[in-house]
Amino acid sequence: MKIGFFDSGMGGLSIMKAVAKELPEYDYVFYGDTANLPLGDKTEEELYEITITGMEYLFDAGCLIVIIACNTASAETARKLQREYLPKHHQSKKILGVIVPTVEMLEYAGFKSAALLATNRTVESKKYFIELEKRGNENVHMIDIATPELVPLIEEGRVGEAALQAIKIIDAQAGESEVVVLGCTHYTEIKNKLRDHFGDSKQIISQDEIIPEKLKLYLDMHPEIQSRLSRGCERSIHLTEHKPAYDKFMQQLLGGVLLGEE
Ligand code: DGL
Repeated sequence: MKIGFFDSGMGGLSIMKAVAKELPEYDYVFYGDTANLPLGDKTEEELYEITITGMEYLFDAGCLIVIIACNTASAETARKLQREYLPKHHQSKKILGVIVPTVEMLEYAGFKSAALLATNRTVESKKYFIELEKRGNENVHMIDIATPELVPLIEEGRVGEAALQAIKIIDAQAGESEVVVLGCTHYTEIKNKLRDHFGDSKQIISQDEIIPEKLKLYLDMHPEIQSRLSRGCERSIHLTEHKPAYDKFMQQLLGGVLLGEE
């Protein structure tokens, strides 16, 4: 059985690419709901419906585990999917989000002040604060900043503009923060430009550098799941709406073969 990834687009693909680099032997399927992008502006109810459709596609495609490689959907749906939808519809399957592993990383690294950049919906959900508090990390001073303008720029390949925009926002609102958490998987695309700009003055936390290791640990801790995963090095990508900007990305992942597109 395979490992699935869900997102609205580019961001989730970056996460799948990073995971496939770390764990190349497994079979991966990506579902990108490009037709519904940006997810960051959807209501909680819309997001739940959209995410369920993605989960159904990925389980039908033979996935045993699905990673919601989207903070917005992780914030609003992961817990409900794990507690209600899986027990009712797919008892043997697993759904993992990206927020808990990121908070665990912040906790482990012992940061005291952080600025979270995320979509409108992720910020509104307060999920990062809830998870930090749950773990007794009230001593981490976190501010959250909604930066919905970055996703469309990144989707259009205007990464330089997105990075400049992010730098302006960080300078204006997060001058004091030790770390900047890129709390939207799309923002992995601007991490290098932010690091070049801020140097040692700020750490930039990017989820493509967290999720692969966390998944590896999860599989090591769950041999009953690991043993059911197929090892054919397959990668397939399904987009609900094809966008030319994805061709380069898909070539890198699939060696030029586009699979599963409608
Ligand atoms: N990549 C998604 C996230 O991590 C959201 C992008 C969007 O708004 O569609 O939140």
